[in-house]
Amino acid sequence: MAVMRSVFYVPSNNEKMVGKATSIEADILTLDLEDSVPPAEKARGREEIKKYLDSSRASQKAKYLYVRVNNWETEMTNDDLEAVVYPGLDGVCLAKCGSGENVKRLDWKLEELEQRRGMKVGSVAIQLLIETAKGVINAYEAASASCRVNSLIFGAVDFTKDMRVTLTSEGKEQLYARFHTAVAARAAGCVAIDCPYVAFQDTEGYKKSTEEGRQMGYEGRMLIHPSQIEPSHEIYTPSAASIEWAEGVKKVFEEEGIAKGTAAVTYLGKMVDTPVYENAMQILRTMEEIRAADAK
Ligand code: COA
Ligand code: MG
Repeated sequence: MAVMRSVFYVPSNNEKMVGKATSIEADILTLDLEDSVPPAEKARGREEIKKYLDSSRASQKAKYLYVRVNNWETEMTNDDLEAVVYPGLDGVCLAKCGSGENVKRLDWKLEELEQRRGMKVGSVAIQLLIETAKGVINAYEAASASCRVNSLIFGAVDFTKDMRVTLTSEGKEQLYARFHTAVAARAAGCVAIDCPYVAFQDTEGYKKSTEEGRQMGYEGRMLIHPSQIEPSHEIYTPSAASIEWAEGVKKVFEEEGIAKGTAAVTYLGKMVDTPVYENAMQILRTMEEIRAADAK
C-alpha cells in the first residue's frame, strides 16, 4: 500500500507556489487544475504543469506527483488530461467523483494517453475525491470501478456546499460522510485520505481533527499549507508506544499462544486473539512501508 500521509496541494497557476513545490517534503505533491484555479487561468495552469514535468519533476522532494483534474461534467477533463499525462506523472485525482462510470471513463482515457505517449499502461494511478452527496453514496462502486484507484479523499468543503450546511472546524455536519468514505475506501482496498482543514493557522485544532480522523480509518490527509505536513507525518506514522505494543503482542501471541496450541492469550491485562495479533502485525508492516518509502 502506498504511503500517503500528506497529500499537499498547490494551485497550478500560482507561479510563486509552483516554484516552491520541488522543496515540499510531502508524500504526494498535487498540482491543482480544479477549484483553486479560476476558469480563465486553467490553460495557464496546464502549461505550468507541463513545464514542471519537463524541468522540475526530477528534483522534487515529494515522493509522488499527482494532478487534480476537473470533473467530467465541466467538459474540461479531457483537455486537462491531454495536457498533463506525460512521463513523471504518478497519479490523477478526479474531483467531484459521482459514480463508477466517471472512473471507467477516466481509466480509458488514461490508457489511451499512456499508449500514445509511450508510458507503461496502468502506470498512472487514480485517486478520487468523494465530495458530493452522490459521490458519498456511490463511493464504494467508484473505488471498485478500476484497479488503478488507490485512494479516496473525503472533500468536506464541497460536501457541505452540496448539503447546504455550514462547514465547521468541529465537523459534526460531516460525520456520516467522513465515516462512510473511510469505510468505502477500506472495503475497496484503498487508502482513506482525510479532508482539508481550512483553518490552517489553528495548529491545535488541526491536530485534534487529524487524530479524530485517524480513529475513523484515515491514513493521510489532504493539505493546503506547508505547516500541516509535519503534524500529519507525526500522527499517521505509528508512534513508538504503538510499535512497542505491537512487538509485545507479536511475541506473546506467537510464543505463548500459537506455539502452545492456543489463539487467545493475555498481554498487559487484555485479551489478545487472532484479529488483535493481525492488527499488531499491520502496524509493524505500515512502519516498514513508511521506512522504505522515506529511504527512497
Ligand atoms: N503551496 C506552496 N507554497 C505555499 C502554499 C502551498 N499550498 N501555501 C502557502 N505557501 C507558502 C506561501 O507562498 C508563503 O511563502 P513565503 O513565506 O515565501 O511568502 C508561505 O508558504 C507561508 O504562507 P502563508 O503566508 O502562511 O499563507 P498564504 O496567505 O500565502 O496562503 C493559502 C494561504 C490558503 C491561500 C495557501 O496556503 C493556498 O493557496 N493553499 C492551497 C489552496 C489549494 O490548493 N486549494 C485546493 C485544495 S482544497
Ligand atoms: Mg472540492
